[in-house]
Amino acid sequence: MFCTWGAQHLVPLFLLLSCALLPGQCHLYNNQYSGDKVIRVFPKNEKEANELKNMYQQLQVDLWQPSSIRHIGKDTVTDVHTSGNSSQVLLTYLTKAKIQHKILVNNVQLMLEAQQVFRPRRKRRSLSRYDYNEYHPLHEIESWMFYMNKTHHDLVSLFTIGKSYEGRSLYVLKLGKDTNSYKKAVWMDCGMHAREWIGPAFCQWFVKEAINSYNTDPAMKKILNLLYIYVMPVFNVDGYDFSWHSDRFWRKTRSKNTRHQCYGVDANRNWKVHWSDEGASLNPCDNTYCGPFAESEPEVKAVAQFLYKQRKHVRAYMSFHAYAQMLLYPYSYQYGTIPNFSCVESAAHNAVLAIHSAYGITYKHGPASSTLYLTSGSSMDWAYNNGIPYAYAFELRDTGYYGFLLPEGLIKPTCVETMLAVKNITMHALKKCR
Ligand SMILES: *[C@@H]1O[C@H](CO)[C@@H](O)[C@H](O)[C@H]1NC(C)=O
Ligand SMILES: *[C@@H]1O[C@H](CO)[C@@H](O)[C@H](O)[C@H]1NC(C)=O
Ligand SMILES: *[C@@H]1O[C@H](CO)[C@@H](O)[C@H](O)[C@H]1NC(C)=O
Ligand SMILES: *[C@@H]1O[C@H](CO)[C@@H](O)[C@H](O)[C@H]1NC(C)=O
Ligand SMILES: [Zn+2]
Repeated sequence: MFCTWGAQHLVPLFLLLSCALLPGQCHLYNNQYSGDKVIRVFPKNEKEANELKNMYQQLQVDLWQPSSIRHIGKDTVTDVHTSGNSSQVLLTYLTKAKIQHKILVNNVQLMLEAQQVFRPRRKRRSLSRYDYNEYHPLHEIESWMFYMNKTHHDLVSLFTIGKSYEGRSLYVLKLGKDTNSYKKAVWMDCGMHAREWIGPAFCQWFVKEAINSYNTDPAMKKILNLLYIYVMPVFNVDGYDFSWHSDRFWRKTRSKNTRHQCYGVDANRNWKVHWSDEGASLNPCDNTYCGPFAESEPEVKAVAQFLYKQRKHVRAYMSFHAYAQMLLYPYSYQYGTIPNFSCVESAAHNAVLAIHSAYGITYKHGPASSTLYLTSGSSMDWAYNNGIPYAYAFELRDTGYYGFLLPEGLIKPTCVETMLAVKNITMHALKKCR
């Protein structure tokens, strides 16, 4: 018996229960990751790096880190998700060639099935007791957004900015006290890459915390009185939904390419800023495919239009990704220093100190190009080049132990520390940069 993950509400719960009753007979995601491994590889020179690139291309591996073969240089450590025979072929090769490596995940299917999120749940709570320590499928996040809109009139409103490729609504929550005076704004988006589930969990956490601490935390009160904060909990709704019921490791959107078999575009390579340049792929089957043209993805186009209209108000742009533990600012598409570097850098510096102050977790920070790698068509560069002075991309926990499968038990500490960073950046953004 095989269990596929149904998209409907009640089906997964039922199937999960029957999985529990018939251990060993029923598998999540059709057992497609059975025996898959994640291998971390440490090349020590150019030659090894080039050989690895070839190998990865041949084996058609899924790179968890970095996101594309193009980004592999001589010092680039890669986290490679391989299936079936490819794992064996790669391991044999690495051993023979004496390339340093270690197995991060020995059986992806087992690790996945061990996760709390896929166990039979306690009875579903009502929305008034929404559990922020869990990952939620799209329909639950949408119900939660409606509920927040309905129950927190004074601080929250919900609206749509367009539709996704598959026709889902693109929802944005607007937080802040309504006043008659002019207010600046901050934008946050999560879930641009489908498999990075900690992102949407953080956006929801942020909204909850902002509302709950408004009356007790003077800093939050000040923020919500002086600013509007736009929060888009799930940017890539089609991809996120797909990652719940079909492929846990899906990254891109779900648009159909007319001339190719492959689906989807990397929503963080699709923006009109040095589009299709360095660090983006023109191959529709690649995970960093930049799309047929800039803003080809309706999700990207909708957010770009919204931000462009609001660009005079928006002081900060923050996009939440995983994993690497980094806080990045422009540029991604070139080396070199942005105007107002010192303000953007000092806000980032304080933000990572704030993160560290919570649980001692260390984040790197710096320009994306030199801290991570060169990429073009990113939302952060687009925001900065369109006049949003504080533009950041977070790469949240962890550094590869769980990778995209960050356990639910780590949602809370990750969100608590990230919250401090976001508040810190927001306070900076309120000040004039000189
Ligand atoms: C994988 O290995 C099995 C047995 O080792 C073999 O029968 C099969 O053809 C291989 N598949 C591929 C795609 O190489
Ligand atoms: C949010 O609530 C307002 C006021 O009750 C309502 O007019 C609006 O339609 C709601 N937004 C959505 C997307 O349902
Ligand atoms: C740099 O900061 C100044 C002063 O706040 C501001 O007027 C200007 O727009 C900023 N430039 C950029 C590129 O953000
Ligand atoms: C921002 O972080 C710095 C360094 O940790 C800290 O001194 C400052 O109080 C923080 N500000 C806010 C508003 O959190
Ligand atoms: Zn990402």
